[in-house]
Amino acid sequence: MSTLGTIFRVTLFGESHGTGVGAVVEGVPAGLKLDLDAMRHELARRRPGQSKLTTQRKEEDEAEFLSGVMHGAATGAPLAIFIRNTDVDSRPYDATRDLPRPGHADFTAWAKWGPARDHRGGGPFSARTTAPLVAAGAIARQMLAGVKIAGHVVEIAGIEVPHEIPFAALAGAEGHATRCADPTTAVLMEHAITRARSEGDSVGGVVEVRAEGLPAGWGGPGADGLESELARALLAIPAARGVEFGAGFRAARMKGSEHNDAFDVDHAGHVTTRTNNSGGILGGISTGMPLVARVAFKPTSSLPRKQDTVNLATMKPAVVETKGRHDPCVVPRAVPIVEACVACVLADAKLRAAAENKR
Ligand SMILES: Cc1cc2nc3c(=O)[nH]c(=O)nc-3n(C[C@H](O)[C@H](O)[C@H](O)COP(=O)(O)O)c2cc1C
Repeated sequence: MSTLGTIFRVTLFGESHGTGVGAVVEGVPAGLKLDLDAMRHELARRRPGQSKLTTQRKEEDEAEFLSGVMHGAATGAPLAIFIRNTDVDSRPYDATRDLPRPGHADFTAWAKWGPARDHRGGGPFSARTTAPLVAAGAIARQMLAGVKIAGHVVEIAGIEVPHEIPFAALAGAEGHATRCADPTTAVLMEHAITRARSEGDSVGGVVEVRAEGLPAGWGGPGADGLESELARALLAIPAARGVEFGAGFRAARMKGSEHNDAFDVDHAGHVTTRTNNSGGILGGISTGMPLVARVAFKPTSSLPRKQDTVNLATMKPAVVETKGRHDPCVVPRAVPIVEACVACVLADAKLRAAAENKR
């Protein structure tokens, strides 16, 4: 079970090869007319089997509302979303039940739960649980009128987008299977993924997400701050290994005079900064500048090749070869998931800011 948020709360449940996956979403304002087309669109962006670069599992990902919705609008009560698993083939996992895949959560699930764990398709660790997160993210986006959130792939297999892409051009990333907004780099990335797949290997990369239209003043100091909440949500995405904001790890190599974002006032009388090395957050609180975060994803651990492991039944060395359907690179499919995390955290921050201002 995994819960994000304080007022806008999203609790995820489910397994890859069980009956389905779902989310209980609390804090949706009563009367909010749910934009189901927008939700379907986001779910379709995350869905597997859309291009030759992803796993060929085919899921319809039709969200069913079990509670909290009447005549298409939120009632204010907890909203339960359920998405059935339909294209399940657990046979490849039965043969490797006792053989944990290196790099996956098979071993740690066994260490925590023993033989009762659901070993099929990664069980609760599967990225399948991010489908209801994306559905919740679609609701969060509706609650964030005026805030635009867009993600894109900036690095795969060490191949980086060489320049900053303007916000308006980020939508162009959807036109390429890699979700990279720079067409030349996108082709190089695609070749790297195809090559890795043909070699029985996988590659990782980095998703950048930006949010524009945020007012200054959302968030708070310390662990309740926007950076902490965003990092918590983003690192919970399967295969996420690191999160940075603005200049991120590069800040460690900059001088203060280079890194500080000088303040200015825009035509509308709002305080702005001339640069945005802070990534739109100072002291855990939004500055009003675009929020910029990057999430690093590891290469997919399930590989169609022999890997050394241990047989957990005999405790003897063994070899495992993954036979299921897998993404040779999870990064393109992670883009709508990263956006959904940001939407959920920002919707919560908005409600918290409104609650604080009332006091
Ligand atoms: C969109 C997406 C798709 C994924 N697909 C696969 C996959 O096909 N095979 C796999 O082994 N891991 C896949 N993963 C990653 C695993 O779920 C993840 O590595 C595993 O649960 C262990 O968690 P950790 O890497 O966060 O430690 C995917 C992750 C994402 C975000």
